[in-house]
Amino acid sequence: MEKKIAVILGDGIGPEVTQQSIKVLNAVALRFGHTFEYSYGIMGADAIDKTGNPLPDETIETCLQSDAILFGAIGHPKYDNDPTAKVRPEQGLLKLRKELQLFANIRPISTYQSLQHLSPLKSKQLKGVDFVIFRELTGGIYFGKKELSEDQTYASDLCAYSKSEIERVSHLAFQYARKRKKKLTLVDKANVLETSRLWRKVVQEIASEYSDVTVDYMFVDNAAMQIILNPAQFDVILTENMFGDIISDEASVLSGSLGLLPSASVGNKTALFEPIHGSYPQAAGKDIANPLGSILSAAMLLDHFQLTHEATAVRAAVAWTLANGFVSKDIDAINNYSTTAIGDLITDHIERNKDSDSSSSSNASLNQSTII
Ligand code: IPM
Ligand code: MN
Repeated sequence: MEKKIAVILGDGIGPEVTQQSIKVLNAVALRFGHTFEYSYGIMGADAIDKTGNPLPDETIETCLQSDAILFGAIGHPKYDNDPTAKVRPEQGLLKLRKELQLFANIRPISTYQSLQHLSPLKSKQLKGVDFVIFRELTGGIYFGKKELSEDQTYASDLCAYSKSEIERVSHLAFQYARKRKKKLTLVDKANVLETSRLWRKVVQEIASEYSDVTVDYMFVDNAAMQIILNPAQFDVILTENMFGDIISDEASVLSGSLGLLPSASVGNKTALFEPIHGSYPQAAGKDIANPLGSILSAAMLLDHFQLTHEATAVRAAVAWTLANGFVSKDIDAINNYSTTAIGDLITDHIERNKDSDSSSSSNASLNQSTII
């Protein structure tokens, strides 16, 4: 198979973790006889520094001409602490999501037995935790009308949703639930927000087309609590943009490290794959960041190309490193390996065709594919 992959290294640790994924993808190409051709684009603080624009048109063009996008991370502290900044790195990512109509962000939450001690939850609560958050990504308060009064004493952000925006992501979530435990939870705030009531109405209508899927509804404040109290109850969570942003960071701590979690953003055009962690500027350039969030995002990219065996080989290699203690500093502060070393170990594992080692993984869900 020949595929074009657009790579956006981005900010902070983005470049170093993404380099590991490229090594891994090259190993997959070698072992399974594929050709992946990479073209590079810039975005975020990196792009602002180079061009003054967080998302140059050339980057959008490169993405549109590719079969998938692998993205690192975005953000820089010099903008975070300056609320008056007119140009911000994050605008690049938001614009890219809009331009590519990446309306569904898929964030699988899995746990690993060997890492359970890192989770703030007791292992009893972590048993059977394996769910996926479907976050709407191109609507809601992120993209509604924004206002700041002339005298800068009043501001507003509008949260707006149309029926069709809700429908398209909901269909994807229902189809996904069908391939899993057939349970979907809509997270909203329908007791207060008009947009949430529309979400409920639309999801109730759609639910009748998926009668094999059990649907329940949960207010976001309660969901935030349930994710900690009883996370094993969830299978597919469907929610709007900002609720999804918040609860996915919350849910990520269940796995033991934010650095482990991948995501896929899909829509009508080229799909994008990125770890859910941010740019982690304190670690940038030190070769200490966890590359697994990015490498598991590359596995989702392979799933997207329908290269299921290849994705499984990547997940098996990741499981092997975790089970054997080849972990980064966020996971073990004393005995740890560099970003590059972990990337090399995973690359070697794939090249040497050691799939059988995956049986040593204590986490069955790790090998589950995420067909999008
Ligand atoms: C995410 C990030 C982004 C978001 C930021 C960087 C704009 O937090 O992908 O979750 O809020 O969507
Ligand atoms: Mn976020």
